[in-house]
Amino acid sequence: MKNWQKSVLWLTVIGSVVFVGSCTVGGSEAGVYRKGKVKMSVSKEVFGKTAEGEEVDVYRLVNANGVQARIMTYGGVLLSLEVPDNKGRLGDVVLGHDRLEKYLAGDPYFGAIVGRYGNRIGKGKFTLDGVAYQLATNNGENHLHGGLKGFDKVVWGARAVREADAVGVRLNYMSVDGEEGYPGNLSCVVTYRLTNEDELKIDYEATTDKATPVNLTHHSYFNLAGQGWGEILNHELMLMADKFTPVDKGLIPTGELRSVKGTPMDFTRPTKIGSRITAEDEQLKFGGGYDHNFVLNSGGRKLALAARVYEALSGRVMEVYTTEPGIQFYSGNFLDGTDVGKGGKVYNYRNGFCLETQHFPDSPNKAEFPSAIVRPGKKLESETIYKFYVKCK
Ligand code: GAL
Repeated sequence: MKNWQKSVLWLTVIGSVVFVGSCTVGGSEAGVYRKGKVKMSVSKEVFGKTAEGEEVDVYRLVNANGVQARIMTYGGVLLSLEVPDNKGRLGDVVLGHDRLEKYLAGDPYFGAIVGRYGNRIGKGKFTLDGVAYQLATNNGENHLHGGLKGFDKVVWGARAVREADAVGVRLNYMSVDGEEGYPGNLSCVVTYRLTNEDELKIDYEATTDKATPVNLTHHSYFNLAGQGWGEILNHELMLMADKFTPVDKGLIPTGELRSVKGTPMDFTRPTKIGSRITAEDEQLKFGGGYDHNFVLNSGGRKLALAARVYEALSGRVMEVYTTEPGIQFYSGNFLDGTDVGKGGKVYNYRNGFCLETQHFPDSPNKAEFPSAIVRPGKKLESETIYKFYVKCK
């Protein structure tokens, strides 16, 4: 081997060591990923008060790697989530506000727990066991995300969770009979856990004293480049869904389960969110982009991978696992710059995306969809995991 060839070989070896090092190993300072080196903790502080004078607390969860999540008791909102990039730097990947007042003034469900029924119910009407119910309508003629005062706008009870490999907060809320038009007293428990595997795990439980529709979900807007870093159109998305539920112009499913094949809804292979979003397509027109329920191939029978998202600049990957049969992929089409968020960042059109695990929208009116009715004596149990890691090129 000639001398110049040896030099090239050595430079290549050194170069790859440096590169792999920067992708997998963190430093020692704060704000940096430190695998297994951080003391796990849950701490609580007061975040503010509602107009009625109720105290709102925020729980800060820190895992053994320094990954952090902050969750407040108002709406069970995930205020921030700091996960590593491919240089080992921690960055906040969810949109939101710095102050409680901004949430109280109204926001597009940033990071909230959504219920009693997440997503839409056509005209807010359904019939259950022969009784017709009229829910609050808050989205044109339809019911959306639990109505005028959904679970995103109430103060939840809370207590810290400390386990061997996770820290968390267990939230509880009693939704009374007749609230927003729903039948039955519904007792809900939602537990957020931050595990040492860098997963944000959400467990939903609910019991009722009368049959009622329930569809609990989590409404974070993600931007894996970091909150406030602009459009999410370059994120690559894969959805484990061969079918979706097409909607009418009010975003109510027609009842059909349609194949994604040959349509802009096909995310069965990793595809950039923006690559077909402007295509001439009736469904994209109705949604103003992506705002659709995907039918998960798993059928929702067991915890299974539902989605994987990759952002190349940061190297961040997010995987979503769920026991639910569907996932709403929403590309942030209603964000329009009116929300000035954390650190003064302006959230413009498509600056965040949501992946809301769920039962299919309008299922109380669609006998062919998996049932979202919870009955006395039968507890609702559902689990979703958002898992984070980085990919080295
Ligand atoms: C999403 C829903 C959108 C929009 C948004 C809130 O979950 O799919 O249509 O309502 O919430 O702005």
